[in-house]
Amino acid sequence: MKILITGNMGYIGPTLTKHLRAAYPNATLVGFDMGYFGNCVTSKEILPECRVDVQYFGDMRQFPAEVLNGVDAIVHLAGISNDPIGNKFEEVTLDINYRASIDLAKKAKEAGVRSFVFASSCSMYGSADDSARTEKSVLNPLTAYAKSKVYTERDLEPMASERFKVTSLRFSTACGWTERLRLDLVLNDFVACAVASKKITILSDGTPWRPLINVKDMVRAMDWAITRETVNGGPFLAVNVGSDEWNYQVKDLAEAVARAIPGTDISMNKNAQPDKRSYRVNFELFKKAAPQHQPKVNLTESIRELKSGLESLGFKDGEFRNSWYMRLKVLTELQEKGLLNNKLQWVKIA
Ligand SMILES: NC(=O)c1ccc[n+]([C@@H]2O[C@H](COP(=O)([O-])OP(=O)(O)OC[C@H]3O[C@@H](n4cnc5c(N)ncnc54)[C@H](O)[C@@H]3O)[C@@H](O)[C@H]2O)c1
Repeated sequence: MKILITGNMGYIGPTLTKHLRAAYPNATLVGFDMGYFGNCVTSKEILPECRVDVQYFGDMRQFPAEVLNGVDAIVHLAGISNDPIGNKFEEVTLDINYRASIDLAKKAKEAGVRSFVFASSCSMYGSADDSARTEKSVLNPLTAYAKSKVYTERDLEPMASERFKVTSLRFSTACGWTERLRLDLVLNDFVACAVASKKITILSDGTPWRPLINVKDMVRAMDWAITRETVNGGPFLAVNVGSDEWNYQVKDLAEAVARAIPGTDISMNKNAQPDKRSYRVNFELFKKAAPQHQPKVNLTESIRELKSGLESLGFKDGEFRNSWYMRLKVLTELQEKGLLNNKLQWVKIA
């Protein structure tokens, strides 16, 4: 089996690569990434990309079809990965996350790739105060990022066939330790606050609902999607990935972290504008479709692994919300230094 992982040099990619390398020791793993966050490694061991057989550096917006020769499956992670970047670079987000994804899928289908796994997001439910959202619920994308996921799914669906299986995994918000850590994710942020300064500052009023999932469980879902039979869900399947027990209110997450790291104070921004992005999600379909690949890691373990990972780095940066652990900060700095242009393309310099 030959598997292409786009966006393999981000937060999720290294954990996915490690998992696939263990699950399919004889597979050829190919990575394709722009390398925006290449330097943001937290691993003291090998460069995570040493685990792929071939690494391409390139832009999804000019994806070379030759890369697809002999590829059986694609896990498509490459993209602008959060709302703050999407808000600052709206058109770029649509170009990379939507148009380039559809272009990749077209080339993949033509090249005979049989399985296309798309990293979608539950954020497409946007704001939903009532019951938990199912895959049939109305979508309410509130941001450019969420819209890019909706448009991509919409255009992928008619492309799917018995010979070109498409699985759109609508992921909960990720958490947990990886070799390219992000701290712009809610649980990771809270643990980093507690480790650095024993003080969690919640930027909202703490009430929004957010389903979460550990990265290790995300990659197990991707593994399932690569190999699922089309009798299980049809040629196109969009499925919420997470678990019912992992629907949390933001303030519950902060409290769980404060319990795990004693002496931590929580402060809430009572005057904050209500965060409109609030949704609970129903994971019944995923439970039925992938009974052997259900999430296993619990919240306590996720907090523990983040705490010990950060401590092993000697992490003490109380100002980390302004550091290279934030994806937007990295891109902004690269731009300010003249290394990326306003379309987030590398500037050719010596
Ligand atoms: N982390 C989450 O909570 C979460 C939840 C749901 C879905 N997802 C999706 O999973 C995917 C991966 O997320 P992540 O947390 O690893 O994000 P990340 O930002 O850490 O990684 C994204 C990777 O994509 C690469 N990339 C971006 N634009 C590119 C381009 N034009 N060409 C080539 N490579 C490009 C970046 O260099 C980076 O290595 C994203 O598509 C994201 O939307 C993530």
